[in-house]
Amino acid sequence: MANIQDLPKYHHHLITEMITMMSESEKNNLEQELSALDLEEIKALYEEVYVNRHVAAPAGEVTDVAAEVKRDMSDARIQELEQLGLEAIQAGRFAALLMAGGQGTRLAHKGPKGTFSFDGISLFQMQADQLLRLNEQLNVTVPWYVMTSDINHHETIEFFSRHDYFGYPDSAVTFFKQPNIVALSPAGELLLNAGSTLLTAPNGNGGVFEAMAATGIYNRMNKQGVTHVYLNNIDNVLVKVLDPVLCGLAVESNADVTTKTIAPLEAESVGRVIMVDDKKRVMEYTELPEGMENTFKNANIGIHIFRLDFLQEASQKELPYHLAIKNLAQLDEDFEVVKKETLKFEKFYFDIFQYAQSFCTLQVERHSEFSPLKNKEGRDSIETARQALLDNGIL
Ligand code: UTP
Repeated sequence: MANIQDLPKYHHHLITEMITMMSESEKNNLEQELSALDLEEIKALYEEVYVNRHVAAPAGEVTDVAAEVKRDMSDARIQELEQLGLEAIQAGRFAALLMAGGQGTRLAHKGPKGTFSFDGISLFQMQADQLLRLNEQLNVTVPWYVMTSDINHHETIEFFSRHDYFGYPDSAVTFFKQPNIVALSPAGELLLNAGSTLLTAPNGNGGVFEAMAATGIYNRMNKQGVTHVYLNNIDNVLVKVLDPVLCGLAVESNADVTTKTIAPLEAESVGRVIMVDDKKRVMEYTELPEGMENTFKNANIGIHIFRLDFLQEASQKELPYHLAIKNLAQLDEDFEVVKKETLKFEKFYFDIFQYAQSFCTLQVERHSEFSPLKNKEGRDSIETARQALLDNGIL
């Protein structure tokens, strides 16, 4: 599809207007980008995810996930798991995987979210410090994989370099990029970004598994002797990176997926970890069956351990796209940069659970383990995150 005139009408309205005002080189770039797209596929995605979207009730029996609750565990049990976890980490069986490819539109911090700092300590450094302490304690070097995206890859690496990798051995840190996918106007049109190229956005944190395959990370982990991958977000300021207790549970249970949860607040709009028949699933609060909103006692906080062999196989399989509507900067018809509500297509990492056979869950205390930095103000904000860091003696 090399010629702009050949675009299905559906998609090209805005761009055909704008292209008449572009320089030759801008036009050529754009045509090249367009020729790499499968527009029919994008059209189908738009129709499925946006035009005909509906929330289907889960087919199957929905029950709460069985979880070990840390508060109810004996000290001996906790120590047993911790010991098991530490031994496995020391034996090099764990890799840490940080998902930091998001756009952080709600926080609107200039730069990757991990560069956001509290009293001069960035979120990246907070996670690096924890891994460094483990490395020292166990005399190992945990491999640390950091997923970025087109929008923040270079800035992330530059930030690590400028801070001397926070003291982490740089050979043990691997950055890899997740894929981007086009973003569309609500009318289904392709859009342009400030550089007059197609507006694209990271394809959601579920892009992590295909990106690992594409960049040879599974093979690399296998060579490193890794058997388990510990995944977490960038924005939970209280995250325990490579928590030995959770690691111990993953080793003991040998489950494909081991998850850390917290008890949700009433009507809290966080995903619930549930079972649909014999599969673990994360369901948005709004998707829960009517009348059962407060039945489920485990909220997803984005901390999971996967067996590497499970991930490697499951990464070959498809994950669905979901709709996200975000305020993204783009060009309007007058070539002015404006921020508008835009349709983003996102994969979610937890959709990989459907391919797993065995699951295990640990519920922990919110006040010491979960405080996400999502917004500038209000709920899950700079202020609440700072307070959580202070309460836990981290600041
Ligand atoms: P969020 O769902 O909070 O998205 O990400 P976000 O893009 O960071 O922020 P908003 O919604 O625009 O304000 C949860 C975790 O998933 C990662 C984020 O970096 C964060 O650690 N993520 C999200 C990715 O790695 N890639 C993505 O495409 C989206």
